[in-house]
Amino acid sequence: SVFENPKIASINVAHRIAELIKSKQASNTPAVLGLATGVTPIAVYAELVRLHKEEGLSFKNVITFNLDEYYPMAPTAAQSYVTFMNENLFNHIDIDKKNVHIPDGTLALEDIPAFCLEYEKKIGDLGGLDIQILGIGRTGHIGFNEPGSAPNSGTRLVTLDDLTRRDAARDFGGKTFVPTKAITMGIGTIFKAREIILMAWSRKKASIIKKAVEGEISGDVPATYLQLSDHVEFILDAPAASEL
Ligand code: GLP
Repeated sequence: SVFENPKIASINVAHRIAELIKSKQASNTPAVLGLATGVTPIAVYAELVRLHKEEGLSFKNVITFNLDEYYPMAPTAAQSYVTFMNENLFNHIDIDKKNVHIPDGTLALEDIPAFCLEYEKKIGDLGGLDIQILGIGRTGHIGFNEPGSAPNSGTRLVTLDDLTRRDAARDFGGKTFVPTKAITMGIGTIFKAREIILMAWSRKKASIIKKAVEGEISGDVPATYLQLSDHVEFILDAPAASEL
């Protein structure tokens, strides 16, 4: 769907998440959310915080799994996705911190495969993700699934694309300070979510959105794999949809 502006679109997405949380509360079951970082979902989180503060929406039954984290990365670093999620969402709601999962950027290399298998298992044991929200990088990555990612890939350590590192340079004060690797949920992990919502705003995303939605399905643009799913929705503003 194409919305008039990112704010209206983000409020729409936040309200769908809130409805899910409330319907799960009614049946005393957890809502399992797949969350994303970046500029794109910030207004969704802001609306969820508003719903908590002004309308009493509780997150006590919410369990979250973030898509990715840089590697290596200290959780306390300003650029970590842990810091991002705390500042934009978790510090302002009543979620139980033991229900929050973000890939661990502090692991020793040899411990990463076991951590990733455990991450998948935790999601699986809960019956899978109810909703996964996504942004999209200019390489066509979702999470940090860069070009070359396999459609059935699971959570794993990946190498970041040069373009992705250049785009992140601003946050790190220069590309050389951007980690070269990340731990990300796989395309296969994302695909198992019952509902996938990819959001993109602005003219800067127009050409990658055109490729993702209309381009040939290929590992060269990982987001094209989403064309194979019947429970994906693209939520766009008019500039991001302008090349469709
Ligand atoms: C990073 C994140 C992605 C995100 C992308 C786009 O690479 N790992 O999950 O979708 O950036 O970021 P932005 O929303 O800031 O454009």
